[in-house]
Amino acid sequence: MSGTNPFLDPGRQTELYGHASRLAGRSNALMRAKTSGRPVPDTIVGLVRNHHERPDGLGLVLDLGCGRGTSSLAFAQALGPRRVVGLDAAPALIEHARQRAQRLPGLPVSFMQGDFHRLPVPAGSSDIVVAAFCLYHSPRPQAVVAEIDRALAPGGLAVLVTKGLDSYREMDQLVAAAGLDRRAEQHESLYISVHSGNLADVVAVSLDVLVVEHEEHSFTFDGHDHLAEYLATNPKYNLAPGLYGNAGALAATLHEVLPDRPLTTKSLVTFVVAQARGGQQ
Ligand SMILES: C[S@@+](CC[C@H](N)C(=O)[O-])C[C@H]1O[C@@H](n2cnc3c(N)ncnc32)[C@H](O)[C@@H]1O
Repeated sequence: MSGTNPFLDPGRQTELYGHASRLAGRSNALMRAKTSGRPVPDTIVGLVRNHHERPDGLGLVLDLGCGRGTSSLAFAQALGPRRVVGLDAAPALIEHARQRAQRLPGLPVSFMQGDFHRLPVPAGSSDIVVAAFCLYHSPRPQAVVAEIDRALAPGGLAVLVTKGLDSYREMDQLVAAAGLDRRAEQHESLYISVHSGNLADVVAVSLDVLVVEHEEHSFTFDGHDHLAEYLATNPKYNLAPGLYGNAGALAATLHEVLPDRPLTTKSLVTFVVAQARGGQQ
């Protein structure tokens, strides 16, 4: 096993985000388990409305690391900007996002493949730049924030979102107790690069931080079958061959070794709103 954190290992990005169905399975299992915490796209929309000086006259909204485009579509519907552009490194996810957008004709949203370290937009072009749950894939997150600074229009806002370092630690405990990976609780957090404890500092290198909000999100998985849908795609663990990526086999193993009962786990979600240094560029 290499020492590289799986979320920072370029070789594992393809595996993690190479198929839209894989990300959808993981996200859907997590969202079905959610018992508290506001929907993140709604919270971002609320922060934009509260902190942008002209929230009803927005031009370009950039959604970095947009994945399957869920947030980009929500921003286009809720904020009514001139255009939303979702950018992601994974071609399969961009293709999937485009197909979703086609089912909503007339919505001013488009998707492009690209790297958030080199934003394919002119300087000063974007009223809003969102980076939700993606900066922790960068070994150089300050470089991404510097690019966000370059992309922001005068009066523009950046909204950045990440998770706490010890998010889902109850899953680590269960994986260790089940003997699936005895060292599950010792692995480095997947969010080591950008997490609730350092997001504001990372952003403050280039931008003025206006708001920092922390919100605890809780999740209760019904039992082994539900949990395995999420765990099977978690790159944090060293699972036995045949279990990684195979929710059915993982659930069967869990049923053999532990009583089937609900698992409650938590994640701290942190939002930072920032603007270009000095308020106006
Ligand atoms: C966990 S998903 C987050 C999706 C979405 N923002 C959300 O809130 O649900 C992380 C996304 O970041 C993307 N990503 C990782 N590294 C990237 C990079 N260098 N440039 C652009 N996107 C990247 C991945 O392809 C993946 O779709």
